[in-house]
Amino acid sequence: MGKCISRNLVLVGGVILGVLVIIAIVLAATLGGEESAIGAGILKEVPLVDGHNDLPYNLKTLNHNFLKNFSFEDLKGDPVWNCSSCFTDLRRLKEGRVGAQFWVAYVSCKSQYKDAVAQTLEQIDVIKRLIKKYPDHLKLVTTADGILEAFQNKKIASLIGAEGGHSIDSRLAVLRQMYDLGVRYLTLTHSCNTPWADGSPVDDVPISPDAEKDRHGGLTEFGKTVVLEMNRLGMLVDLSHVSHQTMIDALNVSKAPVIFSHSSAYTLCNHHRNVRDDVLATVARNGGIVMVNFYSGFIQCNASKNATVDDVIAHINHIRKTAGVNHVGIGSDYDGVDRMPEGLEDVSKYPHLFERLAQIDEPKWSTKDLKKLAGLNLIRVFKEVEKVRNKLAKIKQEPYEDQLPL
Ligand SMILES: *[C@@H]1O[C@H](CO)[C@@H](O)[C@H](O)[C@H]1NC(C)=O
Ligand SMILES: *[C@@H]1O[C@H](CO)[C@@H](O)[C@H](O)[C@H]1NC(C)=O
Ligand SMILES: *[C@@H]1O[C@H](CO)[C@@H](O)[C@H](O)[C@H]1NC(C)=O
Ligand SMILES: *[C@@H]1O[C@H](CO)[C@@H](O)[C@H](O)[C@H]1NC(C)=O
Repeated sequence: MGKCISRNLVLVGGVILGVLVIIAIVLAATLGGEESAIGAGILKEVPLVDGHNDLPYNLKTLNHNFLKNFSFEDLKGDPVWNCSSCFTDLRRLKEGRVGAQFWVAYVSCKSQYKDAVAQTLEQIDVIKRLIKKYPDHLKLVTTADGILEAFQNKKIASLIGAEGGHSIDSRLAVLRQMYDLGVRYLTLTHSCNTPWADGSPVDDVPISPDAEKDRHGGLTEFGKTVVLEMNRLGMLVDLSHVSHQTMIDALNVSKAPVIFSHSSAYTLCNHHRNVRDDVLATVARNGGIVMVNFYSGFIQCNASKNATVDDVIAHINHIRKTAGVNHVGIGSDYDGVDRMPEGLEDVSKYPHLFERLAQIDEPKWSTKDLKKLAGLNLIRVFKEVEKVRNKLAKIKQEPYEDQLPL
C-alpha cells in the first residue's frame, strides 16, 4: 500500500514536471519569437552602430576634459550635465542597446589656422582616456571586425571620428598621424571652408560673407588628394557638413565607398546640411551610406511643428527609397545639438525607433532590412574601405606627398 502510494506520487510528480517543462518550452519559444520579430529584438543580434555622438565636446566644454571627477554611469540629475545638449551616459547607452559608437573629435572652426591640430589631439586623447576608464563597458575599435568582436564581448565598440577638415591643417602628414592614433573617419569640412574644400554654408540662401571666404566651388586638386590619401590609409571619407559640389567631387574621385556620418534628406527638409536626391542616387552607385541625423532642425523644417520619431522614420524611408536599403544607417548627433524629436529624447530610445519601423506596412521593414539599417550597412562599407586600402597596398601605392603653400 505504502509502496503503491509512493509510486503514484512519483507518477503524479512526473506528469506535473512534464507539463511544467512543456509550458516553459512554449513560453521561451513565444518570447524568443517575439523578441526577434519586434524591432528592438534585432539589436541583440547585430550591433547598432551610431555614426555621430559629440559627448567628447561636452566633456571639453562642461568638464574641461577632466575625467577624475566624471562618472559616466548615470548623468541624469547631475547639475553639471543638466545641459540642453546632454543626452548620453552609460546607463542610457545600455538601455538604448547601442553596440558601436563613433565618438567625435570635434574642434570649432574658430581654431582653423590657429591651434586646430592641438585641440583635435586633445579630443582624441579624452576619448581614449574615457574608453580606458570604463574597460568593462567600452572598447577602442579601429576595424570593421573589431565592431563585431566588441559586440560579442558585450562592450560598446568605441570608434573615433574627426569632424572637420580644418583638424588636419592642410597637411597630409597630420592626416596620416591621426589615422595612426586610431581616427577612422574625417569629415572633410565643418561649417567653414578649408583651403581645399567647401562646407555646406556655401549652399545657404542668401550666402553669408563668412561662407564666401576661401570658396573654391567644391574640392580643389589638393582636396582630391586628401580623399585619395584617405582611401590609401583606409579612413572613411565623411561627407556630412560639406557643400553639394564637394559631395559630388568627393564621390567622383573616391576609390572607396563614402559615408555621411550624420545627415538627413534634403527633399523632406531643405537645409543645406541634408543630402539631395541626386547625391543619394550617386551614393547608391558608390556603395556608401547616409546615416540619418535626428536633430529636430534637420528633420522637421516646419518651425511650428515639433519633430517626432515618425519624422525621423520619414527621412529613413526617403533615403531607403532613393538610395536603397543597403545605403541607410543611423547617425543621431546626440550631444551635438539641443533639440531631439519626441520619442527619441536621448540615447536610450533607439529600440523605440526600431519597434516603430517594424510596425509600419509601407515600406515593409523585414528583420534583414532592420539589421542593415542598425549596423550591417556601416560594417559592410567599413570592410569595403579596408579592402580598397589592402588593394592599394598590394599595388604599392605610395603615400601622397602633395603640399599646400602654408
Ligand atoms: C572637475 O574638476 C575640474 C577641475 O577642478 C573642474 O573644472 C570641473 O568643474 C569639475 N567637474 C565637476 C563635475 O565637479
Ligand atoms: C536643470 O536645469 C533646469 C533649468 O534649465 C532647472 O529647472 C532644473 O532644476 C535643473 N536640474 C538639476 C538637477 O539641476
Ligand atoms: C569626374 O571626374 C572626371 C575627371 O576629373 C571629370 O571628367 C568628370 O566630369 C567628373 N564627373 C562628375 C560627375 O563630376
Ligand atoms: C513643442 O514642444 C515644446 C516643448 O516640449 C512644447 O512646449 C510645445 O507646446 C510643443 N509645440 C507643439 C506645436 O506641439
